[in-house]
Amino acid sequence: MKSILNTLRNKSVCPVPPVWIMRQAGRYLPEYREVRAQAGSFLDLAYNPDLAAEVTLQPVRRYGMDGAILFSDILIVPHALGQGLEFRAGEGPVLDTNDLKDLSLENVNDKFSQICKTVFKVRQALDNQHPQTTMIGFSGSPWTVACYMIQGHGKSSFPAIFEMMDRDPDFLDHVIDLIVDASIVYLKGQAEAGAEVLKLFDSWAGLIEDKSQFEKYVIIPTQRIIEGVKQTYPDIPFMGFPRHVPLEWIEAYVIQTGTDGLAVGEDIKMSDIKSDIVLQGNLDNQLLLEGGQALEKSVKDILNEMEGRPFIFNLGHGVIKETDPAHVQQMLDVIRQNS
Ligand code: CP3
Repeated sequence: MKSILNTLRNKSVCPVPPVWIMRQAGRYLPEYREVRAQAGSFLDLAYNPDLAAEVTLQPVRRYGMDGAILFSDILIVPHALGQGLEFRAGEGPVLDTNDLKDLSLENVNDKFSQICKTVFKVRQALDNQHPQTTMIGFSGSPWTVACYMIQGHGKSSFPAIFEMMDRDPDFLDHVIDLIVDASIVYLKGQAEAGAEVLKLFDSWAGLIEDKSQFEKYVIIPTQRIIEGVKQTYPDIPFMGFPRHVPLEWIEAYVIQTGTDGLAVGEDIKMSDIKSDIVLQGNLDNQLLLEGGQALEKSVKDILNEMEGRPFIFNLGHGVIKETDPAHVQQMLDVIRQNS
């Protein structure tokens, strides 16, 4: 049985909660680094369906993860809209802000079709070899994707989007609309190719301090994507991840976006979320890096906290690249023995 899909669809409570970790296909795994070196650049890897499917499956083979998250990146959407994109070693993503005036939906499928081939291959491999594992597709939420597009790089501060909000809000609306439309096409393509759950990463939602801006730039675009995809795929569950948003805004996000599940960062105590929604989270990735007794205690605390609720175990944010793969195994051993 596919425990992640079942938890999200039926709000079922599993005796051992299903588990996967954000950025589980990544540089902390030696087998990933090997394929990554073979592929050349990050984008060469993401657009190569054979190699991208291979790295997607690596953590499933090594750890028996209950979810396989598509190996790709949230910045594929701007790339497909025509914005120049490069991933530079040690620097992260760099986007060409000169291209913002020429964005278009016209050729998005050229890029999306490659990624959807990866989804298809992964789903086939799961059906044959890991039928309990749920195939998770994803996209970035419009706000977070726009933060990178307008700033032009991937550091953790994005003043340019706030300047645009004041100076040229109509242009920002135009960019957000394009991301919404492209994301609907992209996520429908992933669902068609075999994705069983769709996650929307809104890693920078917490930069917004004003509630009405939060509604305009986070809630409404997210709701439009979920509704747009569900018109064609009414049963596919969504997982929202509005990271670092204050607890008081979470309820509005859950109700107004129509998300089926909520991924929670380490900054929020999951038991403080009173809404009756499937939660996913929220082990501190720093504790996974450190390992040992503190890790064991924290995993047990989360299991106790979430006992009796429909729940998917995960981190509060992506696995740090220096993490020892043995610590991931230690985390899984605690979950699987202690539940
Ligand atoms: O295993 C998985 O989770 C699947 C693949 C995945 C990647 N990125 C691969 C990746 C997913 C779901 C993402 C989402 C993503 N990408 C987010 C949202 C989640 C989050 O972490 O907040 C964001 C903000 C991005 C943008 C991005 N991509 C940045 C800022 C960077 C550079 C930072 C870094 O860690 O180097 C990336 C590159 C990236 N995306 C890598 C991976 C494995 C590392 C690059 C490499 O292998 O060379």
